Amino acid sequence: MADWNRRKPIDSLVATAAEHRLVPTLSWPHLLALGVGAIVGTGILTLIGVGVDRAGPAVLLSFAIAGAICACAALAYAEMATLMPTAGSAYTYSYAVLGELVAWIVGWCLILEYSLVVSTVAVGWSGYAAPLLTGVGFPVAFTASPALGGIVNLPAIFIIAVVALLLCMGTRESARLNTALVVIKIATLSLFVFFTLPAFDPSNLEPFMPFGFAKTMGPDGVERGVMAAAAIIFFAFYGFDAISTAAEETKNPERDLSIGIVGSMIACTLIYIFVAAAAVGALPFTRFADSPEPLALILREMGQGQVARIVAIAAIIALPTVLLGFLYGQSRIFLVMARDGFLPVGLARISKRGTPVRITLLTAVLVAVLAGLLPIDEIAALANAGTLIAFAAVGACMLVLRRRAPDMRRPFRVPFAWVVGLGAIGGCLYLFASLPTKTLMACLIWNVIGLVLYFGYGRRRSLLGRAR
Ligand code: ALA
Repeated sequence: MADWNRRKPIDSLVATAAEHRLVPTLSWPHLLALGVGAIVGTGILTLIGVGVDRAGPAVLLSFAIAGAICACAALAYAEMATLMPTAGSAYTYSYAVLGELVAWIVGWCLILEYSLVVSTVAVGWSGYAAPLLTGVGFPVAFTASPALGGIVNLPAIFIIAVVALLLCMGTRESARLNTALVVIKIATLSLFVFFTLPAFDPSNLEPFMPFGFAKTMGPDGVERGVMAAAAIIFFAFYGFDAISTAAEETKNPERDLSIGIVGSMIACTLIYIFVAAAAVGALPFTRFADSPEPLALILREMGQGQVARIVAIAAIIALPTVLLGFLYGQSRIFLVMARDGFLPVGLARISKRGTPVRITLLTAVLVAVLAGLLPIDEIAALANAGTLIAFAAVGACMLVLRRRAPDMRRPFRVPFAWVVGLGAIGGCLYLFASLPTKTLMACLIWNVIGLVLYFGYGRRRSLLGRAR
C-alpha cells in the first residue's frame, strides 16, 4: 500500500480510544442538548437574511434542500460514530476507511469548518449586540467590517476573546448550563413564531422564486438562486457533528450517539420550518434581506419592539454556546491530528489546567481577525465549504465500509444505506458547487496549502508511517 494510502486499523483505533477514555459522564439527553446547542445559532438567527437576499421567499425551498442533505449526512455520521466512538470525528473515520491522504484533507477541512464557524457566529452575535451598544453611544464604525462601511467589528472580536479565555480556564461546556441556554434559544424562536405566524400574508410569497433555481450571477456581482441560498443556509443545520467529538465521554455510545445525532437534527429541522415560514410570511423579503439581525427587525417592523428586544437579548445570551462548542471541538480535532503525528505536538500541549491553551489562543486570534474584518456571508460560505467536504467524506466512508466489511457489527445501521450515502455525497457536492465562486477559489487555496504541508511535513511525521 502506498504510504499516503495507508489506513488505520479500526480495532486499534477503538482500542486507543478505550485506553485514553475520558470519564464517561454524558448520556443521550445531554447529547441531544449538546446537539441542539451547537446547531441552533447564527444560521437561523442571521443567515436567514442572507438566504432571502439570495433566493427570495423560495428560501423555504433552500431550507428544505439543505435540511434533507444534512439529514443524510447526519445518518451516515450516526453509523460511523457508533462504529468508531473516538474524538476525531470525520477525520478518524476517513483515516480508517479511505486512507491517510484523504484523512489529512478531511482534517484540514474540519479545521476550516470549526474555526470559521466561530468567526461567523461571532459576527452574528455582534449583529444582535450592536444596536444595543450603539444605543448607549458606542461608535457605529466599530461594529461593522470595512466591506460594510465600518472600520472593524469590535463586538465580534470581544466575544471570541471571552469564549477563548473561558476555555483556557478549563470551563468545559457544562452540560447543565448548556441545557439552560438551549431552552432559552428554543423559547426565543417559539416567541418569534408566536408573534409573527398569525400575521402570515401569502402575498409576501409573491414572486416566490425571483432569482431562479440554480446559482446565477446577478448584475450586482452576487450569485443568487435557490441553490446559492441553500449553500449558505446549510450553515444553519450542522453542529450535530460536534456530538461525535464527545463520543469518548458518553456512557452508552451506541445508543446515546445515534439518539443525539439523529434526534437533534430532526428537532432543529422542525423548528426551522416554522421560523422560516413565519419570517417570509410576515414581511416582503426585501425589507429584511441581508439584515444583521433579521428576526428582531421583522418584529420591530410589525410594531413588536419589546419582543424584538427580548429576542435580541436572548440571542446575545445563548449564541455563545455555539462558539464554545466549536472552539472546543476545534482544539479536539487538532489534538487528535497531533496525536497521529500530523501537527506539531508542542502546539497541542495541554496546560496545567488540562486545556490546550496554545492552540485555543492561536485559533482565537486568527478567527478574531477574520471576524473583525470580513462580512458574515463570506466567512459562513467558507466554513460551509470545509464542512461539505468532510460530510461527503463521511458518506463515502459509510458506503466503502459497507462493501468492504458487510458483516461487521453496526450498532446503528442506516436504512437504505445506498440511497442515504449517495444522497449525502451527491447533495454535498451539489451544494459545494453552488457556493460563491470566490469561496471555491479560497477553499482550493486552503487545500493546496494543506497538501504542501502534508507532502512536506505530515507524511514523514505520521506515527502510523513511522510504526511500519
Ligand atoms: N448551525 C450553527 C449555527 O447556525 C453552526 O450557528
